[in-house]
Amino acid sequence: MAIHTPADAMVFFGATGDLAHKKTFAALQALVRRGVLTVPIIAVAKSGMTLDQLKSRARDGIERYGGGIDEAAFATMCGLLRYVDGDYADPQTFAAVRSELGASQRPLHYLAIPPALFGPVSSHLGSSGCAKGARVVVEKPFGRDRTSATQLNALLHAVFDETSIFRIDHYLGKEAVQNTLYFRFANSILEPLWNRTHVRQIQITMAESFGVEGRGAFYDGTGTLRDVIQNHLMQVLGFLCMEAPNWDDTERTRDEQVKLFRAIRSLQPTDIVRGQFRGYLQEPGVHSASTTETYAAVRLQIDNWRWSGVPIYLRAGKHLPVTATEVRVEFHRPPPVVFHEPLPPSHNFLRFQINPRIEIGINAQVKVDGERMIGEQVELLAIDQQSDEMTPYERLLGDALRGDGTLFARQDSVDECWRIVDGVLGSTVPAYPYSPGAWGPEAGNDWLLPPGGWHSPQVAST
Ligand code: BG6
Repeated sequence: MAIHTPADAMVFFGATGDLAHKKTFAALQALVRRGVLTVPIIAVAKSGMTLDQLKSRARDGIERYGGGIDEAAFATMCGLLRYVDGDYADPQTFAAVRSELGASQRPLHYLAIPPALFGPVSSHLGSSGCAKGARVVVEKPFGRDRTSATQLNALLHAVFDETSIFRIDHYLGKEAVQNTLYFRFANSILEPLWNRTHVRQIQITMAESFGVEGRGAFYDGTGTLRDVIQNHLMQVLGFLCMEAPNWDDTERTRDEQVKLFRAIRSLQPTDIVRGQFRGYLQEPGVHSASTTETYAAVRLQIDNWRWSGVPIYLRAGKHLPVTATEVRVEFHRPPPVVFHEPLPPSHNFLRFQINPRIEIGINAQVKVDGERMIGEQVELLAIDQQSDEMTPYERLLGDALRGDGTLFARQDSVDECWRIVDGVLGSTVPAYPYSPGAWGPEAGNDWLLPPGGWHSPQVAST
């Protein structure tokens, strides 16, 4: 079991931003409630706010988005909170942070700031003495292609070594994503089936029934492939398809992930469909002639002994019919030699719903009661749960405070995921229009159709 040294202070850059307001303060309150966060929290931002105003903003965010205030935990959190107001380009800001850190030997710097500031902020952390013994947590997006991610790494590595860099992918903090890994390796029933001999195909759908929600400017420079496929869905695929890891050893687990990513072929233009919902060009912040995709579907191939020849389809998009993320692992049919009945509508499959519910379902065929040997499909639900007990941010920031990097993306795996998508970023293929509420563009979906078609998650429309 790896031994980690807990942080003795947390420095929180971007403390007045949107992410802080909607997610981070709620996670900090929850960490205080569980007794995980007991060290000073030094919030940093350039807002002109006072510490009291920051506390009010934190209260507002937790009330509106974070599940409500726990007065005792909130008061304790406020007791730990300090505030440094200053520009990220000004060395004085970092001198003030250094002075707030006092005798801290092992601070955790959490950069909830735009990626363009990662380099300058980490360099100031280095020159001000704040980086000594420190760890740094960086938010996504980590680069916008393979080259820029490499450059960003170089900037961070000038100050922090790799074991001190924690790259957040909040999908790795989701209970349901961890359960895919757990369910695979805590049971012996799946392993004999989990390979090219038995698996016909894998589909992962991440559908969102809403649009870009005021994030037009960010989204237009990003698109679906960069926003959620290169990172979130690839990480889900990593847990689903990697070899058995040693969970107690951070690096061995991440080694298995990266081994899997290395075996995935780089995408070619024939492996991708891009779409753009009608009305996107009128969104505030979106360029009027934008060709950015709001929907993407890709076909991946893994060149290793376990998965060779099994097609893997990932798709994600905005303004689709439902909000749901689901993995479906479909098995080959049994030979039709015993029962002479019409083929069931679908193959056996295993379904992991990640969002909105946490579900693991096994689809099987059972006999219908009566004289004839005919069957019907049923689903055996192994888990059916409303939502995570802990939010991903609570879990991941807790891990970072303890110094456990298992659920954070390592440089080599981020690099491999960029390598996989690099050749199809941007307008390599056209973005076909689709109507809001449709499952992406019909035009493109025809030529990237999984065997038997796409299987859409079944949830109530939102
Ligand atoms: C974010 C993307 O990383 O993940 C968003 O930027 C997306 O566009 C979000 O909506 C989805 O996360 P979740 O946890 O709501 O599925």
